[in-house]
Amino acid sequence: MKTTRSVAELRAALEGAGRVGLVPTMGALHEGHLSLVRRAREECETVVVSLFVNPTQFGPSEDLEAYPRDETRDAALLDAEGADLLFAPAREELYPPGFATSVRVSGLTRELEGEARGDEHFEGVATVVLKLLNIARPDAVYFGQKDAQQTLVIRRMARDLDVPTRIEVLPTVRDPDGLALSSRNAYLEPAERDQALGLSAALRAAEDTVARGELSASAVLEAARSELASAGLEPEYLELRSAEDLTPVESVNGSTLLALAARVGRARLIDNVVLASGAQAGRVGRSAARASVGRAPDRLVSAEHRSLNDLTGGKA
Ligand code: PAJ
Repeated sequence: MKTTRSVAELRAALEGAGRVGLVPTMGALHEGHLSLVRRAREECETVVVSLFVNPTQFGPSEDLEAYPRDETRDAALLDAEGADLLFAPAREELYPPGFATSVRVSGLTRELEGEARGDEHFEGVATVVLKLLNIARPDAVYFGQKDAQQTLVIRRMARDLDVPTRIEVLPTVRDPDGLALSSRNAYLEPAERDQALGLSAALRAAEDTVARGELSASAVLEAARSELASAGLEPEYLELRSAEDLTPVESVNGSTLLALAARVGRARLIDNVVLASGAQAGRVGRSAARASVGRAPDRLVSAEHRSLNDLTGGKA
């Protein structure tokens, strides 16, 4: 694998590269990131992974300085997955002096993470992702459902700005006990990691409620909230929304996102699941088994694999 640091160097390395797949990351790689790299490897001739801790998507009181960084380790992991190119630019390469442009997707970005982290967060994400797409000009770009709202924002941007790249969203990879993998899990002390299991437990409780046929938002949210409370967690938000446009919903239907954020120790963690009602759940369960990355408890996998890709592919 070759490491490139400038736009010019990456573009030169991509001459005649055939079908290009891009996986944007901020590093501190884990199996979630690597699942995206593997899919890109299967589908594309040349796999580019970007590693850039994007300062513009961090708020002033957030963890930009503390964010875990280990390029040597990340490069070794990517090399082992057969990635072709690592794009790891310095801050000034992407934001040279005089940089003055940003991409703002309205509406969607105000909700959930946008409300909690401020408007700048998704503005920073959309801007850097559009830059990366313009730099690498990939045929396909790969994201994780772990950041469900981010994928909706990027799909909307791509649609509105006629970005020709195919956008793929892959399921959340979890530890066997359910914890969604996140670079920020590195902040958790052992006791906090146990507490953090409350997030996935809350999502499973919501799934169980739906499986019993209780579809009202109040029943589903109450089940999740009580799991969080028994783990000693107070959610920053816990919301049932349309998985297509994040509008609030009163009951679970075929495309309903349950999204939550909570602080555990110094980590701010997010997680989500797409809830499917009735007959759809069964169908989803079976396709989930085929698509499974094999690291999550079955029930959570089943609804989760009715992913944002299925729901919004090509039309969000
Ligand atoms: P980062 O948090 O490093 O995540 C990079 C990609 O990995 C994102 O698409 C994210 O959704 C995916 N990912 C993270 N945890 C995952 C998990 N447990 N299972 C599956 N996929 C997972 O998201 C960002 O970086 C940045 O906002 C970025 C898009 C790179 C722009 O700066």
